[in-house]
Amino acid sequence: MMNTKTIAVLTSGGDAPGMNAAVRAVARAGITSGLRVMAVRRGYNGLLNGDIYEMNLRSVSDIIHRGGTFLYTARSPQFNTQEGVQKAADRCRQMGIDGVVVIGGDGSFRGARDLTGAGIPCIGIPGTIDNDIASSEYTIGFDTAMNTAVQMVDRLRDTTESHDRCSVVEVMGRRCGDLALQTGIAVGATTILVPEVPYDFDRDVIERMQFTQKTGKKHFIIVVAEGVGGVDKLAKDIEERTGIESRATVLGHVQRGGSPTLRDRVVASEMGAKAVSLLCEGKSNRVMVVRDGRVTDLDITEALQMKRPFNKELYDIALKISI
Ligand code: F6P
Repeated sequence: MMNTKTIAVLTSGGDAPGMNAAVRAVARAGITSGLRVMAVRRGYNGLLNGDIYEMNLRSVSDIIHRGGTFLYTARSPQFNTQEGVQKAADRCRQMGIDGVVVIGGDGSFRGARDLTGAGIPCIGIPGTIDNDIASSEYTIGFDTAMNTAVQMVDRLRDTTESHDRCSVVEVMGRRCGDLALQTGIAVGATTILVPEVPYDFDRDVIERMQFTQKTGKKHFIIVVAEGVGGVDKLAKDIEERTGIESRATVLGHVQRGGSPTLRDRVVASEMGAKAVSLLCEGKSNRVMVVRDGRVTDLDITEALQMKRPFNKELYDIALKISI
């Protein structure tokens, strides 16, 4: 057992619904375990400039249902240097911080690994709407973002159908196609384009549209992952080739907001509490993950080397039934 007495928590990278629930769990589990729990604002920047304050049990009241992160977040170029990491570690030592819980994506975990290397034990919690962390089957915020994207595309469908049009919709996800795949299935998209599966414009877009048109379909939804992009050109090309009026929509940052779903609140709460237990047990350089549906933990360095498998089986099913 390590003599952890003071821990800190920060959110880093893009915000994700459920981050507040994770911070709440860290604060509550920490304080009820007898620890001092410090809040760090604006990610690693807060460690560098000392934007840190002590929380009590009520500091995290009324946040479990809120999107975004009440600790604010940032991507910190200064922290991504050896001097930056050293300065952050010095700040922790100066403030008596014995461990840090970092909520964010892979970039934030690289920071957590480096800070651990500089002598400050860290635990990572995966928080990103992209679901792009190879070591974990699930990342906090993904469920909320999927549901938001589905609601938005359902609205688009109303107008698309009314005009017998084709809507080409870009959803977020960086280089990961999970958000596009799940959304595409849930909205019955005629085609789903993801970075993991190379596509052929004629075969995968035009011929699929023409086939469904022959069987009576009059409006079309094409879901495109951010990692594929180019929705304006796609819409123009589709209109030119098929004569079907087409419009491009980029859902954008609206997908990052909103009240977290039950799943995001529960996973965040479990991961937050377990991250505190790991620090109390003297563990460090670990990342919370979902494996086989259960919340557990892995070594951050090993986790960062993992490759993310894409669910091609589900992708093939999507194409089979959305016809
Ligand atoms: O990682 C979350 C995410 O929303 C990605 O889907 C997207 O590529 C990126 O962040 C956008 O980043 P920013 O908010 O800096 O524009």
